[in-house]
Amino acid sequence: MKIAVRYFSKSGNTKKIAEAIASAVGVEAKDISSPLSEDVDILFLGSAPYAFDVDNAVKKFISDISVKVGKAVNFSTTAGIKSTRKYVEKFFAEKGIILAEEEFSCRGKFGIVHKNRPNDEDKKAAAEFAKKIVS
Ligand SMILES: Cc1cc2nc3c(=O)[nH]c(=O)nc-3n(C[C@H](O)[C@H](O)[C@H](O)COP(=O)(O)O)c2cc1C
Repeated sequence: MKIAVRYFSKSGNTKKIAEAIASAVGVEAKDISSPLSEDVDILFLGSAPYAFDVDNAVKKFISDISVKVGKAVNFSTTAGIKSTRKYVEKFFAEKGIILAEEEFSCRGKFGIVHKNRPNDEDKKAAAEFAKKIVS
């Protein structure tokens, strides 16, 4: 099974989760400046909300996908909302890429709020989630 992990992370929170997921499934986590270069069965895509949306770079990454993606799996770190799913789903739909119902999201440090998140427990939960998805 071919798996890719991509993330957008301004302050490093989502990157931590991306690395936990990637390590659990045996691939390298890359930021979204690395486009997908070959067909994949599963794309784990990580992002964080900034002022009630994801960064345009995340939308562009999805819109620019030029390979076949079996299914996409959203993951995110946030300070308040449940996940970034609602901000990315339209872009996957426009590409005809299935976005899995399953997703992973946890709190991410934001100023003095959610200090130390994501923590080791979050990373462990992300790794377990990823293993379940690929099993
Ligand atoms: C300018 C700014 C705007 C943010 N807006 C939101 C928001 O609308 N909703 C939310 O839940 N979190 C919001 N956050 C919190 C971040 O999404 C959260 O800290 C996330 O973990 C950052 O991930 P990153 O380090 O991977 O970029 C905001 C943070 C900043 C700095």
